[in-house]
Amino acid sequence: MITSNDLRAKYLAFFQERGHAVIRSASLIPDNDPTVLFTTAGMHPLVPYLLGATHPQGKRLTDVQKCVRTGDIDEVGDGTHCTFFEMLGNWSLGDYFKKESIGWSYEFLTKVLHIDPERLAVSVFAGDADAPRDEVSADAWFSHGIPRNRIFYLPKKNNWWGPAGLTGPCGPDTEIFIVRDMPDCSPQCSPACNCGKYVEIWNNVFMEYNKQADGSYIPLSQKNVDTGMGLERTVAMLNGYQTVYETDVFAPVMALLSQKTAAVLPEAEATRARRIIADHIRTATFMLGDEKGVTPSNVDQGYILRRLIRRALRFARKLELDSSVLLEAASIYIGIYKDIYTELFANKNKVLEELKTEMDKFSLTLQQGLKEFEKLRQYIQNNRISGKAAFRLYDTFGFPIEMTLELAADAGISVDTEGYEECYKEHQLKSQAGAEQKFKGGLADHTEETAKLHTATHLLLASLKKVLGDDSIQQKGSNITAERLRFDFNFPRPLTEEEIKAVEAAVNGAIQAKYAITCEEMSLEDAKKSGATGVFESRYHEIVKVYTMGNYSKEICGGPHAANTGELGVFEIIKEQSSSSGIRRIKAILK
Ligand code: ALA
Repeated sequence: MITSNDLRAKYLAFFQERGHAVIRSASLIPDNDPTVLFTTAGMHPLVPYLLGATHPQGKRLTDVQKCVRTGDIDEVGDGTHCTFFEMLGNWSLGDYFKKESIGWSYEFLTKVLHIDPERLAVSVFAGDADAPRDEVSADAWFSHGIPRNRIFYLPKKNNWWGPAGLTGPCGPDTEIFIVRDMPDCSPQCSPACNCGKYVEIWNNVFMEYNKQADGSYIPLSQKNVDTGMGLERTVAMLNGYQTVYETDVFAPVMALLSQKTAAVLPEAEATRARRIIADHIRTATFMLGDEKGVTPSNVDQGYILRRLIRRALRFARKLELDSSVLLEAASIYIGIYKDIYTELFANKNKVLEELKTEMDKFSLTLQQGLKEFEKLRQYIQNNRISGKAAFRLYDTFGFPIEMTLELAADAGISVDTEGYEECYKEHQLKSQAGAEQKFKGGLADHTEETAKLHTATHLLLASLKKVLGDDSIQQKGSNITAERLRFDFNFPRPLTEEEIKAVEAAVNGAIQAKYAITCEEMSLEDAKKSGATGVFESRYHEIVKVYTMGNYSKEICGGPHAANTGELGVFEIIKEQSSSSGIRRIKAILK
């Protein structure tokens, strides 16, 4: 059996031997990126470097990145879709390109993982007005022995990756598939088809274009390689499993869920429910236990987390599973991953407490919603619940529409779901709708405005320490849009009016001092010695960037920043509020 630990270790060692620096997984919560809620791919934290910034660890990188994608949430429950997954990746930042990348992928798959080359098929970009047919990749695959009839030319829809948002780095890709032992579903069957014969395990993207807001593609200053291999899927394929739930990262939780569920549902339905619970609780565990962990709420990441936990609970309810089993599942995951993602173990109590609190809250919501549903039943006409009534159950009592549908179906009543959707849109549940949009949206464009606001967060942190006289203050979160910055920090009480004014004045003083901003690269150890602030949880020998603003601020950070503090204009705090227990949040603008 090949385990997830085996695959991670083999992958990183292989690329390390070929000159790649092993970098650690970034947080699931992107840094200073207002347009996307979670890290969705290994390339995500690397966007500035794909666009041309120098990476402190060189031009060849490799890692295993924690990723969350909830766009396909409705597919979860099949054999291969997960909301959380690990992506193995290797990058060339303007260094090697197609031939080397394809050669190494082939070598890794056939020589290290010992996959029979007969079981491999690939696809390459067929070409269009934006970029040529990718004969270079096709020839590279052929030179390694993949026959022409297993090299498929597919259009942009299949063989172009990115940008992750509307603009940014992207390019044609070549995808690698394991061919399952089953006949073609039709004469047209190819990797573009979803019959299950071709399972994608690795995607090598040749990022040589930058998509513009007007839809055009301009060549990037450097040609990059960005690859991504799905860990869970690949482990499943290597072991000949039909689904990811049989792999070592899921099997213990699946066994627990099977053992605890009574036979209340038809087997196929029960299996799907168990998979959904196993998936959602794993994702929730990683979100809560992340180094920048989130807690359930009604906005942004917290909203997605809440939705996942509540969805898992709905399915647990169907299986007549006690919610304590879900807590047991979370503990099992923490055990499985504790050596790879040490933050999970460090945050174990928080993960379990927050999960429990959210589950208790939801139980109350359900109880109240059930009562309201019963009341509603007395009044409905034509055996149909109106969209308005369904929306009121959701809006006022937090009762999910899925629950309304379920109860209505049991009672032989129909629900006007279209009407519900209309009400939902009409009321424009701003935070949630915003979250959804960001969720589907992409990456930030690192404009001048966001760079200035980012510089302002450094001045703000330094000013908070000075004004409040508390050196233990640290950044606990940051989110920047083109209009404002949002900065979370640890502090036990609200700031007074005078303190807020004093912090503002201190930041503006630093702006007026017109400090030049310099960036140096050094080891984390040296950065620490130099007195730079930052989070020192990374590997000790890791090279980091340190941004210095006169003698005012020195912080470890990836950038980008303004060149001089004098460019910032006037800093104004527009809000100071609580973010969560012990954490304050400041929103500020530059005028
Ligand atoms: N960024 C590429 C993907 O996510 C590798 O598939």
